[in-house]
Amino acid sequence: MDESAIRTQLNDAGYALVQVEPRLQGLGSTIRPDVLAWAADNDGVLVPWAVVEVKHRQVAGHSAALRQLATIRDQLGTVDHYVVIDGEWFRADRGLRTATPISGPVSPANGADGVLQDVSLATSLIQERLWNAANRRRHDGQRLDSLELFADLLPGSLSGELVARSGHTVRADRDVLWRAGRRALTAFTSQDKNTDLFVSHPAIARAVAELAGDAISGTVLDPFCGTGEFLWAAADRAVAASRSVELVGVDFSSQMIEIASSLASAAPVPARAIQGNAYSELPTDVDLVLSSPPLGLRLPTQHELLNGTSTKDGDLASIDVAIRSLRSGGRAVLQISPGVTFRANGEAYRQFLAENVRVAALIGCPRGTVPGTGTGSVLLVIDKLPPTKTFVSQLGEDWEDQLSSGGAAITAAVAHLDDKTAKAT
Ligand SMILES: C[S@@+](CC[C@H](N)C(=O)[O-])C[C@H]1O[C@@H](n2cnc3c(N)ncnc32)[C@H](O)[C@@H]1O
Repeated sequence: MDESAIRTQLNDAGYALVQVEPRLQGLGSTIRPDVLAWAADNDGVLVPWAVVEVKHRQVAGHSAALRQLATIRDQLGTVDHYVVIDGEWFRADRGLRTATPISGPVSPANGADGVLQDVSLATSLIQERLWNAANRRRHDGQRLDSLELFADLLPGSLSGELVARSGHTVRADRDVLWRAGRRALTAFTSQDKNTDLFVSHPAIARAVAELAGDAISGTVLDPFCGTGEFLWAAADRAVAASRSVELVGVDFSSQMIEIASSLASAAPVPARAIQGNAYSELPTDVDLVLSSPPLGLRLPTQHELLNGTSTKDGDLASIDVAIRSLRSGGRAVLQISPGVTFRANGEAYRQFLAENVRVAALIGCPRGTVPGTGTGSVLLVIDKLPPTKTFVSQLGEDWEDQLSSGGAAITAAVAHLDDKTAKAT
């Protein structure tokens, strides 16, 4: 008997969600249950409930299988344990010391209809749905566009129910679906060279939100929001610090807005995504701007900068529109092209910034920080306040560690940002 026949028998016994050799957090990479079935616990939460170890008589008896089941039970807290040897079912006793013959799996004690609270499982169900749809489209000879696929399928995935392979629907917590949707998006698009350009690196998004510091409150705007990674990272921090925020994302692309809107509707804080041109139609008086414009963009028309000069340089213009959107005292955190720090055409505007706003931090980041490009980037923090000293740092290969929570660079940068009295030199 193969694993898919065992899956069918478990489905027939009332289990809606059955996984064959699942990858699970908390289990060592060498230990994977042959078959795992989920069911409701006493509180109605969907938990790993039954495990089946599959053996062939000539290879092993019960004892090896029972040892494996015990390891899995210790790690996952499973309740019902089976060994299937050449198609014959055996059920283990509570202590997992013996296994006795049984005609097939027993129905789960509290039924299978629990609420899914496990983000990894929800992510894998969304991913499974995406891969199946992608394979169907490929099979029908359609060109595969990950973001189009995501835009089509995400609203269904975030609506409150996920469809398991058996066709049964699984109810899930809204917050779990929101997190799972974000994880599935970054995992799915990072494997597609045509689309990774639109989704910021999660480590950069987290660092950008940390650099926002206390400024995470009130209206938070991302003028080039893409699928919204920066905004969702800000939401994580706002929720952790019990701050009230309203997130607003703007993007040129209708597809980005479709995806960002789906995620916004499931976000734990008020959020919306609007289609628009960041260089001409942004809200004003916002408390915080988070932004990663396309690097090295040439604008089709001249943009008038705050210093009175005009430019077609999209990098300079994107700093300018961020400052224009801010209320006095607000903060902007941008991931921009390294060129803005040294290109000759930016000299006058750099001088203007140095004299008129607090250029609070400049953190140079190497290749790998902007997915889909071979270039590095700079994290720039500007407060709409009088000038003070600038924190300057250049990161190397270990940029992810340096920018992780508690990392040396981010800790030093945040300490400087919090000291708003540091005088300009
Ligand atoms: C690097 S991506 C942003 C990724 C985003 N930070 C995230 O968190 O996933 C840049 C985005 O800018 C958008 N864009 C390009 N030109 C624009 C414009 N003039 N106005 C608004 N959005 C624009 C692109 O559609 C793209 O989604």
